[in-house]
Amino acid sequence: MDYLSERTDEVDRWKEVMLVYESALKQIGTKLEILNDEFQHVHQYNPIEHIKSRLKTSESIVKKLKKNGYESTIDNMIEYVNDIAGIRVICSFTSDIYQIAEMICNQKDIHVISIKDYFLNPKVSGYKSYHMLVTIPVYLSDRIVDTKVEIQIRTVAMDFWASLEHKIHYKFEGNAPEHIKNELIECAKMVSDLDARMLSLNEEVQEISRQDEYLENKFAKKEMAE
Ligand code: GTP
Ligand code: MG
Repeated sequence: MDYLSERTDEVDRWKEVMLVYESALKQIGTKLEILNDEFQHVHQYNPIEHIKSRLKTSESIVKKLKKNGYESTIDNMIEYVNDIAGIRVICSFTSDIYQIAEMICNQKDIHVISIKDYFLNPKVSGYKSYHMLVTIPVYLSDRIVDTKVEIQIRTVAMDFWASLEHKIHYKFEGNAPEHIKNELIECAKMVSDLDARMLSLNEEVQEISRQDEYLENKFAKKEMAE
């Protein structure tokens, strides 16, 4: 085979591989939307605020392979780059994180490879989030490809913090001045405190709603009996 047709084959394979990752993202996105709609129907509540998904760029894939000492090949990227397909699920309350994670785990065709709970064990930077690495089967015309997707689940407040921290990290190429790093750690504490207070406020309001509903039902039954 001459060089040009070899290149064409590689380009075709690259396109096909990225198409598979894109399909995996679509499938997980749809699953999450369905779960959210069902949750709304059963509990009159949306655990998911919004969902963002992205495919890693070829530049980032090559950079990551290089960083970890691997040659830039399609086989290596499939084997060693776990976040080519990434989906971020943003919720309101910390309790939603585990509800969403459980709903994902319960999906028969999703296989959970690993979990990193940076909510219970935050990073030194102050980063908090719940990460799941899963595979989902993508059905092609001639075969089924189990495809890796990285799912990050976090609250709106954690997401706000993470996006600013990411910008700062990028700007200073990982070497931000000490006072900025310290300020970020302080902000992370405030985020945790805010998340805890919002959760307890919400729980209190829910409890009041439950009591109101109970009393309404009781009076309605009494009225019917009279
Ligand atoms: P990466 O090589 O960065 O993908 O990390 P990893 O393979 O060791 O996995 P890890 O679970 O630590 O991080 C996965 C992803 O979580 C990253 O690509 C980021 O999107 C996010 N992340 C991890 N740590 C931080 C952090 O300190 N700050 C921010 N803003 N995001 C982070
Ligand atoms: Mg990453």
